[in-house]
Amino acid sequence: MSTERKPVSALSIEEAGLELDTLAKEIARHDALYHAEDRPEISDADYDALKRRNDAIEAAFPDLVRGDSPSKRVGAAPASGFKLVTHARPMLSLDNTFSDEDVRDFVASVYRFLGMIPDNSIAFTAEPKIDGLSMSLRYEGGRLVTAATRGDGTVGENVTANILTIKEIPSELPAGVPDVVEVRGEVYMGKTDFAALNARMAEEGKQTYVNPRNTAAGSLRQLDPKMTAQRKLRFFAYAWGELSDMPADTQMGMVEKFREWSFPVNPLMKRLSSVEEIIAHYNEIGLQRAGLDYDIDGVVYKVDRLDLQGRLGYRSRSPRWATAHKFPAEQALTTLTAIDIQVGRTGALTPVARLVPITVGGVVVTNATLHNEDYIKGIGNSGEPIREGRDIRIGDTVIVQRAGDVIPQIVDVVLEQRLTDAVAYEFPRTCPVCGSHAVREVNEKTGKVDAVRRCTGGFVCQAQAIEHLKHFVSRDAYDIEGLGSKQIDFFFASEDPALQIRTAPDIFTLEARQRNSLAKLENIDGFGKVSVGKLYAAINERREIALNRFIYALGIRHIGETNAKLLARAYGTYAAFETAMRDAASMSGDAWSELNAIEGIGEVVARALVEFFKEPRNVEVIEKLLKEVRPQEMVAPTTSGSPVAGKTVVFTGSLEKFTRDEAKARAESLGAKVAGSVSKKTDYVVAGADAGSKLVKARELGVEVLDEDGWLALIGG
Ligand code: IVH
Repeated sequence: MSTERKPVSALSIEEAGLELDTLAKEIARHDALYHAEDRPEISDADYDALKRRNDAIEAAFPDLVRGDSPSKRVGAAPASGFKLVTHARPMLSLDNTFSDEDVRDFVASVYRFLGMIPDNSIAFTAEPKIDGLSMSLRYEGGRLVTAATRGDGTVGENVTANILTIKEIPSELPAGVPDVVEVRGEVYMGKTDFAALNARMAEEGKQTYVNPRNTAAGSLRQLDPKMTAQRKLRFFAYAWGELSDMPADTQMGMVEKFREWSFPVNPLMKRLSSVEEIIAHYNEIGLQRAGLDYDIDGVVYKVDRLDLQGRLGYRSRSPRWATAHKFPAEQALTTLTAIDIQVGRTGALTPVARLVPITVGGVVVTNATLHNEDYIKGIGNSGEPIREGRDIRIGDTVIVQRAGDVIPQIVDVVLEQRLTDAVAYEFPRTCPVCGSHAVREVNEKTGKVDAVRRCTGGFVCQAQAIEHLKHFVSRDAYDIEGLGSKQIDFFFASEDPALQIRTAPDIFTLEARQRNSLAKLENIDGFGKVSVGKLYAAINERREIALNRFIYALGIRHIGETNAKLLARAYGTYAAFETAMRDAASMSGDAWSELNAIEGIGEVVARALVEFFKEPRNVEVIEKLLKEVRPQEMVAPTTSGSPVAGKTVVFTGSLEKFTRDEAKARAESLGAKVAGSVSKKTDYVVAGADAGSKLVKARELGVEVLDEDGWLALIGG
């Protein structure tokens, strides 16, 4: 069976942006279903596939990382009913790998980051990835004081009373343990216990549960611990949070301690060195999977030595020293009933397949992405045939896959079952929302036709205008409480001038317009007097806003949260930023070079920026907006006590004490900005052996030059 999908490397920037948009929405929806409502629609494997695809695209197109990117979230916000606990150390998530190749890459990346030649000298642990709920157990003076769920990774729910009903979890630790101990691991329900529970439910004529994981989650969420006690929950310890004293210096040693302290630990954990051994253990665990009394969805690999873990450190939400090698997911057959076209903020027309609901890997799937026009036709990104050129038609029997690093998609059609009257799908040439022409742009440089068809309606297109507003109020932009998607739909649709919100400035004039109007918002269904008051307060609170948020909120193509930050840092004030963008309009001269010199801003992004400011309608909206709001000056981040916070550093030459990646990660974690070229704005140049032109330039400009030791002394080793 063919499993063609567009590799990330073959995505155009527009396709990537489009897919990231879709992924952010999809993942947020599944997060809510899973965490807040305990009723997931897709399997964990499928969910991971979405996240992984998102991460892969973000890695390839860092400029496109969205402010509300799922990669920046760990889990979902806690549901109500329990007291909240702020974790002493955040509870992070794991990166996923799906193929032997990915595992090789992971191992290679560890060696590379540490500046070592891959010689099998680094040991890794490999253990099953338990499909349960992660839990942080805090002991003080040897006594269990708090048990907390992961929540959003920073703040979880206090479920101590419920955890105390789990016999496998000690409420006291033996004498001699460190004063503060946070043991982390997975709470799960055994398969046999789950089957017995369901048999009982069925006997009593009650509804049965879907799977052990959700049942365990539901059991822990019971406000009455007696309810939890009736379910046989179990636990495996595999990680830790705060510890006042480290009892071991390896991952294996730590888990051994947990075992000595009477925590259940997984017997299949092994310490291995070569990629071959690691993969062999993965296969072995895969073979044992069905026979285990608990669900697992992969194998977790971790660098064994804790000092190396420390050097490897973390990305935004996951450690560089670990990865989860997931088991593959499934495929299923169903009928494609319709193809709908969605119009995004940038005008991209995305086809979505509506399916006769089908269970794939235990979960119901109703939609799948069709990517773009060519994908439906059976044409790949470089014009090559995919699915041996088979196109996808409405009414077709299709193979749906939710596996690996792809979002739910249709991998093939069953031609034998194609209806005789089925006709090839005609992709619309006009926007289904505003009727404007929808075109496929030609890349000036490559002459390649974009795979994405875009509505040319711009501000005229209601879909784009609404999506713009929704972006404007989204979490990492203006984040106005009480003004979400639903409310935007309402205000946008309103015909009353005192209620209408069509562009961002309208949000800030709403209260004033309301004051002089008879059509009172508080009389409208869904808004009471109190909520209207709160809404105005929330809006007014945002009249002062961080510059990076403001820039991000403008919704400029390719300007995600990361790029917005880079720009805010580079220009400092909104006025300086806008002036520079206008001065760069000719795409030559100082302003243009300076923009392109910002580390992380490439030409595609630079172009998008100047194009945006060339459009008079954009400038007009911003002018109106600036009458209402004040973007704050960007001050360098104060990383407390860091001597290099806000400083710009350039590393050059061959470094011996650390790798370039390591140096960069460390500097950034201390609040420094790492640049690729030396300019007047550079504060330090750290020069290793054989430093060349950058060192010369630093000397010319009088920039302070340090050697590696000098740098280490500066940042405190
Ligand atoms: S280590 C810093 N080990 O998988 C990372 N996690 O996707 C600490 N999980 O939140 C996690 N089995 O809920 C680790 N053997 C294992 C695991 C495991 C299951 C879960 C855990 C974590 C999630 C990460």
